[in-house]
Amino acid sequence: MTDRIVLAYSGGLDTSVAIGWIAEATGSEVVAVAVDVGQGGESLETVRQRALDCGAVEAYVADARDEFAEQYCMPTLKTNALYMDAYPLVSAISRPVITKHLVAAAQQFGASTVAHGCTGKGNDQVRFEVGIQTLGPELKCIAPVRDLALTRDKAIEYAERNELPIETTKSNPFSIDQNVWGRAVETGFLEDIWNGPTKDVYDYTEDPAFPPAPDVVTITFEAGVPTAIDGRAVTALEAIEELNRRAGAQGVGRIDIVEDRLVGIKSREIYEAPGAMALIAAHKELENITLEREQARFKKTVDQRWTELVYDGQWFSPLKRSLDTFVEDTQRHVSGEIRLRLHAGTAVVEGRRSETSLYDFNLATYDTGDAFDQSSARGFIDIFGLSAKVASEREQRLHGKPDLSAVDSLEQ
Ligand code: ARG
Repeated sequence: MTDRIVLAYSGGLDTSVAIGWIAEATGSEVVAVAVDVGQGGESLETVRQRALDCGAVEAYVADARDEFAEQYCMPTLKTNALYMDAYPLVSAISRPVITKHLVAAAQQFGASTVAHGCTGKGNDQVRFEVGIQTLGPELKCIAPVRDLALTRDKAIEYAERNELPIETTKSNPFSIDQNVWGRAVETGFLEDIWNGPTKDVYDYTEDPAFPPAPDVVTITFEAGVPTAIDGRAVTALEAIEELNRRAGAQGVGRIDIVEDRLVGIKSREIYEAPGAMALIAAHKELENITLEREQARFKKTVDQRWTELVYDGQWFSPLKRSLDTFVEDTQRHVSGEIRLRLHAGTAVVEGRRSETSLYDFNLATYDTGDAFDQSSARGFIDIFGLSAKVASEREQRLHGKPDLSAVDSLEQ
């Protein structure tokens, strides 16, 4: 039987050409796999038909939108994941769900190898291939752009020569990756990091400089995930989509950063993630009132490590799984409502309300009704500061003065 290769297919020029390119270079049959993670655009059926028209022996399409929202975006929300304190992992979380479908298709169609359209310079090749090695250790990987010299120019020439049913003239200067969690745009004039982004870079967000009237939205969470918006029950996918629309209209969630790729390159990327950024702002504040202090402090460390692992392509790794267990446990009481004001590029929390809140009015108030026993604060401070005081007394004994070197060095 002829060897088969499963190709991660987007429907665009490069992967359409890759179907024939891989077949010619390897002598294998190509099975195209397209996964809908909410990137919008053409219907799955159109994409499927194009794959077949470009020479795929089989085409497998999967509507993974709910799966992506529930099993990939929601864990990302629970960790408030922002790589380098800014990037909500848009592309990084879509690779594992696509990988899952690639491996399933390889098994279903009897393929020995999985192919993807990534270059040799980015994170995504790592995410795909580490994921494939983990979920289908028997599978080989190949990347035609990286391994079979499939350049953009050659792709255009190949598509025209073979009359592939795909647009070759629509020249987009940017490399774009998008899904329901957000949108990533790089290359072109953005590679000069002094250049500001122009209007045409954006698609999920309106210009925050010209906002419509403020939009106040109430988001209900249960155990860390949104379950209703303004009192209407929503699925995870619907919550993200509605907030993409409403926060996007206010220009919320535009991000412009130079980030550290796993492969050692610093690269400039523009992101738009209106729904994700609004949800993270709300979720963080709900955690502020529902997590116990030490749990919250430690969770920040876990969140950061989780985010780096996922950015680095370790979605299916043992450590990531163990951290998931911790995070899941912290979310038990992260339930309640957050009122957010979306306006002119900002998503600001205005109100919070929760049955499982740890905020105690009677402990916090400076007015009548104060239940906090202030007299116990003195003893607490004496003991809390005791070890530093004992150390300071030693300095007095040895040098005749307290150790103020930290202060002195600041004053110099
Ligand atoms: N730099 C981002 C990441 O590694 C996005 C990668 C894809 N970006 C793109 N514009 N094609 O997660």
